[in-house]
Amino acid sequence: MKKEKNNSELMEKIVSLCKRRGFIFPGSEIYGGLANSFDYGPLGVELKNNIKNIWWNRFIHQRDDMVGIDAALIMNPKVWEASGHLKEFSDPLVECKKCKKRFRADHVDPNYEKTHHLNKKIKCPDCSGELSEPRQFNLMLKTFLGVIEDSASTAYFRPETAQAMFVDFKNVLETARKKIPFGIAQIGKAFRNEVTPGNFIFRTREFEQMEIEYFIPVPKKDADWEKVFEMWRKEIWSWAAEDLGIEKKNLHDCECEPENRAHYSKKTIDLEYDFPFGRSELYGLAYRTDFDLKNHFKEPPYEDAETGEKFYPHVIEPTFGVDRSVLAVLCDAYKEEEERVVLRLKPSLAPYKVAVFPLLRNKPELVEKATEIYHQLKKNFNVAFDDRGNIGKRYYSQDEIGTPFCVTIDFETLENDDVTVRDRDTMKQERVKISDLSEKISGSLNE
Ligand code: GAP
Repeated sequence: MKKEKNNSELMEKIVSLCKRRGFIFPGSEIYGGLANSFDYGPLGVELKNNIKNIWWNRFIHQRDDMVGIDAALIMNPKVWEASGHLKEFSDPLVECKKCKKRFRADHVDPNYEKTHHLNKKIKCPDCSGELSEPRQFNLMLKTFLGVIEDSASTAYFRPETAQAMFVDFKNVLETARKKIPFGIAQIGKAFRNEVTPGNFIFRTREFEQMEIEYFIPVPKKDADWEKVFEMWRKEIWSWAAEDLGIEKKNLHDCECEPENRAHYSKKTIDLEYDFPFGRSELYGLAYRTDFDLKNHFKEPPYEDAETGEKFYPHVIEPTFGVDRSVLAVLCDAYKEEEERVVLRLKPSLAPYKVAVFPLLRNKPELVEKATEIYHQLKKNFNVAFDDRGNIGKRYYSQDEIGTPFCVTIDFETLENDDVTVRDRDTMKQERVKISDLSEKISGSLNE
């Protein structure tokens, strides 16, 4: 019980830091907000862009078997008919007959997914009122294109980025001239009319995904797809632990029971993270078979260059939520120490790579030199400048947003062309030549 309280306090502290320091704000706040909508502020967008850029570099630029696309958010509604989303993409919804609050049946009844019945003994978690029978609620977010709002103009915001990789498969194949096995990746927004959004940016109705559809030959035996599945399972772990710097002890594989899997999947393993509100899905890995390509293409869309054989490739799909990455990174990096709160972010993820301070704001020669160094570093890095309060406060202010280095310009700098560099994690200080600063900062980004 105590642990739960501490954990919810921890979550509150992280949410509050995010707002106070400009990582993440409640959306439309001056109009009273919009439930579960959030805006990334100046520091949040840097963190999020760093995650997306490192992901793109790792999985597209560094590999020979991957290409990227950036598709429209609203696709022809026939896409969603063929993909099965209009029919299958739903959650079981129950309503409290007394307080009218709505819940997902599988959230209030842990056995729901096995039985597909709501245990009658289960009551409303808020007011203990009686719950209705579950009914399926489709998660597709609807809109209308053009001036007339009727069924002919109904369209949907994509609930996953994945479908564009299937629909564009032939166009990509013809232009990128890739041979199987290869993958198509995309980063972009997805929308779901979630029944119970919540836990800050963990589950929202508008969110961002980084997805890969990896196409393989028709497997002759299970081991053929299992090998590729395992390769991607390791890649996901390596991304989370090494690129995002998340502690391995907080990450867990969880294989989905058949009744929990999405309609297209033959096997799914989720990578879960120990969020302060509990262990929950961070990423997913699914074997989508040839389900999607078969539904979209009447003819097999792939021809083997050597044998001339035409077939429907099978698909392994690693999928990564951008917002959940941001949240996991923040939760993992947030540390309360004796005198300070510090975000121990990997330097490559930190919004600012370095902060520059003149020792005293009322000494023009120090301010001038600090400004010069600030502009010089800004050519290569995102840099903060601070001349308020005392140096100690400035350090703590940068610690709280994860800036790996603070550089102080003092009177010795004017004599010797060196500065004090203070390390966020060790809090140790050293003198570094101005000419060596860029290299020191760059070095930390490759760690
Ligand atoms: N294409 C497969 C797919 O979309 P999913 O498990 O439904 O699979 C993939 O979603 C990832 O997207 C999840 O692992 C999670 O990181 C993220 N995600 C899903 N729904 C979300 C939501 N409502 N809010 C934030 N992130 C979400």
